[in-house]
Amino acid sequence: MEPLNFTYYMPTKLLFGAGSLEKLADQQLPGKKALIVIGESGIMRKTGYLGRVEGYLKDAGADSVVFDKIKPNPLASHVDEAAALARSENCDFVVGLGGGSTIDSSKSIAVMAKNPGKYWDYVGNGSGGGKTPTGGALPIIAITTTAGTGTEADPWTVITKSETNEKIGWGNEDTFPTFSIIDPELMLSVPEKQTAYTGMDTFFHSVETYLATVHQPASDHLALEAVGIINENLPKAVKNGQDLEARTQIAWANTAAGICQSLSSCISHHSLEHAVSAYHPEVPHGAGLVMLSVAYFTVLSRKAPERFGELARAMGIDISGMSKEAAAEAFIKALKKLIASVGIADERLADYGVKESEFDNLADNAYYAMGNLFDITPASLKKPDVLEILQMAYSA
Ligand SMILES: [Fe+2]
Repeated sequence: MEPLNFTYYMPTKLLFGAGSLEKLADQQLPGKKALIVIGESGIMRKTGYLGRVEGYLKDAGADSVVFDKIKPNPLASHVDEAAALARSENCDFVVGLGGGSTIDSSKSIAVMAKNPGKYWDYVGNGSGGGKTPTGGALPIIAITTTAGTGTEADPWTVITKSETNEKIGWGNEDTFPTFSIIDPELMLSVPEKQTAYTGMDTFFHSVETYLATVHQPASDHLALEAVGIINENLPKAVKNGQDLEARTQIAWANTAAGICQSLSSCISHHSLEHAVSAYHPEVPHGAGLVMLSVAYFTVLSRKAPERFGELARAMGIDISGMSKEAAAEAFIKALKKLIASVGIADERLADYGVKESEFDNLADNAYYAMGNLFDITPASLKKPDVLEILQMAYSA
């Protein structure tokens, strides 16, 4: 047994459940004027979610202004632009409304509203300046309308610097949301493909935080629970988006996986995906993970099969009597089945314009931009391993 030695820190209040958006009107808000951050697609206006949030904030005593330019792979330049707006409008808190990209952006904006310079001066990896933001951050409220990133329950924000093709995760104790609202009713309108992509992102957060060398008892419990919930309910939510019970289960799995990302961490599967979607921003994050996953976990489980058995068991497989290698193979088989059952088994890197000639560059980018996740991956993955993963994923 490894000695128990960990830090448990998850300071975000979570308001969870169908209809919970209404509770915003009764909350003690952390300020008087909100910068509401939404995506560029217009969907938050079309669905009426933005109007409801503006109204509930008013009921709770706060004015608001809206920043509506966030892209699906959010950009550092928009963080700086929105932070300038927050300052000029005297906003004293930030509300991220939407999927992971808008909530992540709201965290970075909250930091930059209180600190000088550019966002990238503070990013800790790649070409980031690595400065410490001594000014803290504005309080953050996260209202999630998808079940994917778990960002409502963790401090992480993933932002892309398009000029240098870097997509880097960053965060600190100030970037945990003050409170988050997870209302599965808001997720009923998520289209089929996006439900599959975001749900698989959640699945991999659970798997990776379970496998990471920095896992701890609470993250282990939640990660295995989330793996089981996704395996059972994601195919249902993809098949029938109006299935509120399945949506609610997936929403909880997503938030649970977010808590796991606060207590443990994702591993280098995410470094590889960030490299792919930094160069090919049209690759949805969840799709990128799915396309790399079978190859990645095949190579990793050859080197470190130990903890894959429990993941297979969480997916309903009887592993009694199996060797750890056989149990790891059973997990890979169950993973393939899950990907097929949510309708995205035929997606390939080449379909998104990824070329074999890029592999060397992508491998270097994974280490350069997100090398820290290789340090907590349960086996050493060197560049030849990463190239093997990319080749295997490409040729599948
Ligand atoms: Fe992710």
